[in-house]
Amino acid sequence: MKKLYIETVGCQMNVLDSEMVVASLRREGYELTAELTAADTILFNTCSVREQAENKTYSALGRLRKFKRENPGKIVGVMGCMAQKDQRLVFERAPFVDLVVGPGQLQRIPDLLREIESGGGPQMAVSLGRREGSADEIRRSHETFDPLRDPAMRPTPFQAFLRIQIGCDKFCTYCVVPMTRGPEQGRPPAEIIAEARTLADQGCVEITLLGQTVNSYRHRSEGRTTRLSDLLGSLHEIDGLRRIKFVTNYPKDMTRDLLEAVRDLPKVSPYLHVPAQSGSNRILERMKRGYTVEDYREMMARIRELVPDAAVTSDFIVGFCGETDAEFALTYDLVAECRFKNSFIFKYSERTGTKAAELMPDDVPYDVKQWRNNELLQLQNRIAEELNQEFLARTVEVLVEGPSDWQKRQGAAGPVLQLTGRTPCDRIVVFDGTERQIGQFLPVAIYEVSAHTLFGAVVTHEVGPELLSIG
Ligand code: SAH
Ligand code: SF4
Ligand code: F3S
Repeated sequence: MKKLYIETVGCQMNVLDSEMVVASLRREGYELTAELTAADTILFNTCSVREQAENKTYSALGRLRKFKRENPGKIVGVMGCMAQKDQRLVFERAPFVDLVVGPGQLQRIPDLLREIESGGGPQMAVSLGRREGSADEIRRSHETFDPLRDPAMRPTPFQAFLRIQIGCDKFCTYCVVPMTRGPEQGRPPAEIIAEARTLADQGCVEITLLGQTVNSYRHRSEGRTTRLSDLLGSLHEIDGLRRIKFVTNYPKDMTRDLLEAVRDLPKVSPYLHVPAQSGSNRILERMKRGYTVEDYREMMARIRELVPDAAVTSDFIVGFCGETDAEFALTYDLVAECRFKNSFIFKYSERTGTKAAELMPDDVPYDVKQWRNNELLQLQNRIAEELNQEFLARTVEVLVEGPSDWQKRQGAAGPVLQLTGRTPCDRIVVFDGTERQIGQFLPVAIYEVSAHTLFGAVVTHEVGPELLSIG
């Protein structure tokens, strides 16, 4: 049996893509290994969103140079967004690489591996660039690769990602995704629903719908348009599914019908990730985000009105081209005002091929970006902790995911484990429990909080000796 090692970085799309690639290769008789050196085929699923992500992959490849020289029969492949963005450059920077495959061509991996094994030499499969063909040809070169599902490859067997949209057409000036993932395409609702049923049949209780701008999802056929809110309504009917989440949202498309669906459908989590990116209108304009800070505020008001308990999270880029201290201060104010549950904060990283790289100098010094990053992070952490305090002495419903990071480092020792899981609003909860509880929904009473974690104890009415011992 051939052994496959796969390393995944980047967003949830990549986690899902890796699941599909593993599923397709298992059908070809491959077996997954966690040991790089034991593998016959080594795949890196890569990300290009910031330079740091690419540098990490190139250094990992660099470390393989000697290994590959000593084991020339092993196959090294680079897949994902960096493969699509760098294409032949991957072979130039790491000449021993055998395979380069963009995210829109992953279904070809089994054939390409066979070609390499039969002496065909290095192989490359990438999608067309945004100006390299007719709209239809370009769309078709970015194929979805979704029907193959493999529970064994998921972070847990009872949680899964489900792609409802591929690509992105927003073209924010800093971003590579419209290049690497191609044009925005909503998958047909019937396909999505069938896939959700398969997942539920496989024992999946939670699905997270994926799209770069998931709430812009639209599918038109036979004169009917299906929106995300309609899709949520249909998915809600599926027996077995108990939680439905969706990421990432685009502020302009956070419409009333969607918020009403979140409010009215109990299985839909009141968790909304809606990146703002900046609190300055001039910067938003230069980013070409398509909304103003006032629009964002209005959206927040709409969320608070319709889903008052929603946990809202955001992304911010600090040190974007030309960002002044005063403009950064506006971002700081927006975070203070919106009180996000959490924000991911990134230092602007110039990406070749984007409009920003072409037209605007990356002129904010690195240490200024670092300072702004720290300031914003400190504020966000303070807010996160304050919001978490409201959970003290409350009981939350937790889907138990598995041993906590601490427990994993300790290894399993005895029947009581420190477990981790999430609330419907995506808060991480840590508590003591047993192996048997993994995959279950449990009520947990919270007695301690930090900025990123709630700590609690399982509540039970049928107090048996085993549960008594775990408090
Ligand atoms: N489609 C999602 C996000 C995709 S990338 C959305 O539009 O919200 C995830 C996050 O990475 C973005 O929200 C942005 O904050 C950040 N990001 C993207 N390009 C970046 C760049 N060139 N430099 C720094 N951060 C970037
Ligand atoms: Fe990138 Fe903007 Fe598309 Fe998000 S919406 S993937 S940031 S271009
Ligand atoms: Fe990275 Fe591609 Fe996702 S660039 S963030 S892996 S869509």
